[in-house]
Amino acid sequence: MIHHIRLLIFIFIAFALSLSARAAEKLFISINTENTSIVLEKNDTGDLMFMHYGLPTGDASQYGNYNSYRRVDYGTDPMAYPARGGRYYNEPALSVKYADTDANTELKYVSHKTSVPQKGVEQTDIILRDPKTALEVTLTYTAYQKEDVITAHTEITNKGGKTVTLENYASSCINLKAGKYLLTHFHGAWAGEMQTEHEQLTHGTKIIDNKMGVRTTHTENPSFMLSLDTEDFDENHGEVIAGALVWSGNYKMSFQIDEFDRLNIISGINPHACAYPLKKGESFITPDMIWTYSCAGAGQASRNLHDWARKYDLYSHGRMAPTLLNSWEGAYFDFTTPVLTGMIDDAAAMGLEMFVLDDGWFGTDYPRNSSRQGLGDWQLNTKKIPEGIEYLADYAHKKGLKFGIWIEPEMVNPKSNLAKKHPEWIVKSPGREATTTRNQWLLDLCNPEVQDFVFNVFDETMQLAVNKIDYIKWDCNRHVESFGSSFLREQSKFYVDYIQGLYSVLKRLRAKYPDVIVQSCSSGGGRVDYGALNYFDEVWTSDNTEGLSRVFIQYGTNMIYPACTTGSHVSDVPNHQTNNVTPLKFRFDIASAGRLGMELQPKKMSADDRAYAQRAIASYKRFRDLVEQGDLYRLVSPYDGDHYALMYVSKDKTRAVVFAYCIKYQGRARKPLIRLYGLDKDKSYSITELNTDTPSFWGDGQTFSGQWLINQGINPQLVKIYDSGIWYLEAK
Ligand code: GLA
Repeated sequence: MIHHIRLLIFIFIAFALSLSARAAEKLFISINTENTSIVLEKNDTGDLMFMHYGLPTGDASQYGNYNSYRRVDYGTDPMAYPARGGRYYNEPALSVKYADTDANTELKYVSHKTSVPQKGVEQTDIILRDPKTALEVTLTYTAYQKEDVITAHTEITNKGGKTVTLENYASSCINLKAGKYLLTHFHGAWAGEMQTEHEQLTHGTKIIDNKMGVRTTHTENPSFMLSLDTEDFDENHGEVIAGALVWSGNYKMSFQIDEFDRLNIISGINPHACAYPLKKGESFITPDMIWTYSCAGAGQASRNLHDWARKYDLYSHGRMAPTLLNSWEGAYFDFTTPVLTGMIDDAAAMGLEMFVLDDGWFGTDYPRNSSRQGLGDWQLNTKKIPEGIEYLADYAHKKGLKFGIWIEPEMVNPKSNLAKKHPEWIVKSPGREATTTRNQWLLDLCNPEVQDFVFNVFDETMQLAVNKIDYIKWDCNRHVESFGSSFLREQSKFYVDYIQGLYSVLKRLRAKYPDVIVQSCSSGGGRVDYGALNYFDEVWTSDNTEGLSRVFIQYGTNMIYPACTTGSHVSDVPNHQTNNVTPLKFRFDIASAGRLGMELQPKKMSADDRAYAQRAIASYKRFRDLVEQGDLYRLVSPYDGDHYALMYVSKDKTRAVVFAYCIKYQGRARKPLIRLYGLDKDKSYSITELNTDTPSFWGDGQTFSGQWLINQGINPQLVKIYDSGIWYLEAK
């Protein structure tokens, strides 16, 4: 008997020792794409450390004896998902408060596995746990092989006994070591979205974030680029990392350079007013953070993101955008059926492919004749359109055009039947005034009844012309103020639950209407993010359609988001937002670098201008597939001087389209030199300038080698402000 007990004790001790030896064993996890890799290490204390992101470094066990030469008793080396507490003292990815008021979390490696969810995609799930509280975190990295994109998110599960509160719950953390870090990010406002800004990071913490609740882009955009070891933003050379968050609500991205000159980037949902309770057994899944790395400059980083988005993120993947006429700036609220059918006739005559009826078609007791009333009452205003929406849809279809219509289902005007019927649906804090913006309130999408209502707004609008509405423009014209939900018990869930409520409505709508084209608009480009693009086909890039402003807005937007998502329209002059007057050609040439549309009253155009529009629309159709599916090369930055130039090239490099614009008058000495980097040096290309009878490049109609076009480049005569050109290239 004693002998047996001794044997058991011996076996137990041996097992325990082997467990602790295994716990002490280092282990390496590599997350690889074709040209990049993240390396993580489970160290001898069970922590998961961040070792590398960049070009592959080969067998990860080479990190086995890696020495950072830091004092072992001084904080920690970079961690893969740093939690507040223990020895970690920098910005945390995760902060949790426990029922016993302990605010420390120390995550230890438990296990990991890799899988292949689909060809070309590898997923790594790593489980970490806090031994004291049993809080469990699964880090999921998904590596998209060909696109060199790695996405990261976490699932946080309360496996302990009592409710915990998540105070920070970032999606991802990466850590880099370079001599210099140049951050490129995109600030903006209404009518001036996605303005590109570069800044050299210094010690301390730089934050880009948003706390507007339902619109991501009218401050900063949840995306950035980071150039390493340089002070210059370079399109074609050097190491560049790009990141973007798949989330349409409050976000935060912090960039902290620590005392060892390492840069820690933590990104995810903004913890602002967002403490999230997790009951026993509950989990929270954070949105994906998208990463890409390029060692060939910012251009390649953009192309990686675009390729990944077109294949894996965008709702639209591959569906070509119809050219369109939108009624807004041509008619505003002031229309009746003949005005609209007249616009449809003119759109058809110019060769456009869709007509979109914007704001103003609804409201009976409170007709929507201005922004002051009517939102929420989605019944047709029969005074304006007595024949009905179906009549208009049929009219458009008979002319060969698709038909689309505008809604703003998340909103309500105080002057509406809805506001009177459901005051409890309005976002506000009890005892405080509900503030209006653009005369409207926000509906509380945390509430499932409101979710059903919003679903029904879309659904019932679609029923106004069954199977005849091809496009919905979904607007969202205000942000969150006085946040509060009469539905929620815990108000700090508001910001997250709103966006989850929105996504769940969109998911239901997409199940019912998979083929309807849906635009995400938010006073222009207020909701431009990869979260929205999971459900929307396109974004309304900006209410500012003025050519010169668009140069900068589109340059920034398309750095992160592919042109197949960015609506860009030709509008009237003087421009309604800026008063600026630019030539029609310039307006077409910039709008043609995205999803082309028009937004004006064609009846006000001269016969010559209409003929020109017809010509420009026809040539757009010739290269539209390149704009939408081709590789983008930014050739000349509008921030560097007098010109902006870009090109899209087909994947096989047999076709390309080049756009160039003069954006300043700079004297005749300053002619642009545009090197066509995207071409194949071993092919020959014919080059033809479109939409003009007086070509601006002496080589028009000739054939040049790719090598010549890349290394010599073209020098078109674009010397006066708003001169512009589009060239079509075909390999011989
Ligand atoms: C917002 C949009 C515009 C237009 C108006 C209608 O401002 O950005 O394009 O739809 O609303 O009210």
